[in-house]
Amino acid sequence: MIMSNDKSKKLVQLHVNGKTHDATIRSADTLLHTLREQLGLTAAKPACENGDCGACTVIIDGQPMHSCLSLTIETVHQSITTNEGLLDSPLQQAFVDNWAIQCGYCTSGFITNCHALVEQHPDADAALIDEWLASNLCRCTGYQEIKDAVKSVLRMKKDQTSPL
Ligand code: FES
Ligand code: FES
Repeated sequence: MIMSNDKSKKLVQLHVNGKTHDATIRSADTLLHTLREQLGLTAAKPACENGDCGACTVIIDGQPMHSCLSLTIETVHQSITTNEGLLDSPLQQAFVDNWAIQCGYCTSGFITNCHALVEQHPDADAALIDEWLASNLCRCTGYQEIKDAVKSVLRMKKDQTSPL
């Protein structure tokens, strides 16, 4: 970490979606705003900015986190994944196939949260899915389509690992 000419700012390196990015930040900057305004990664959405809605969810060292509540400075040595980094995740296609999107504002946060869920809990049951989805709010869709998308990915993963 080195200091920039503006003493209130620091030049740091962030590890996002498998790449290293430079960012010039203040101590109080949130990861949500650093991702969007400095790195041009706008999938994580600002909404409540209070930890209540999950629209800003990213994955930090494997855990879904609200980037509106995460200080950028605290993520310097961590591995960050945004929805832009999940192009290979079957969850994006599953959301499309199951009509789990309407306006789409919440969708990135749901997908990052659900990606961490299926990675950590390939045997997740309905109760665990409900528990994980409680951190994210959607004002448009029924939640059933989102749950269906998650279940379809869990089924697909199970099929891929089952012996013939
Ligand atoms: S914008 Fe972060 S939880 Fe709502
Ligand atoms: S699809 Fe519109 S808020 Fe969720």
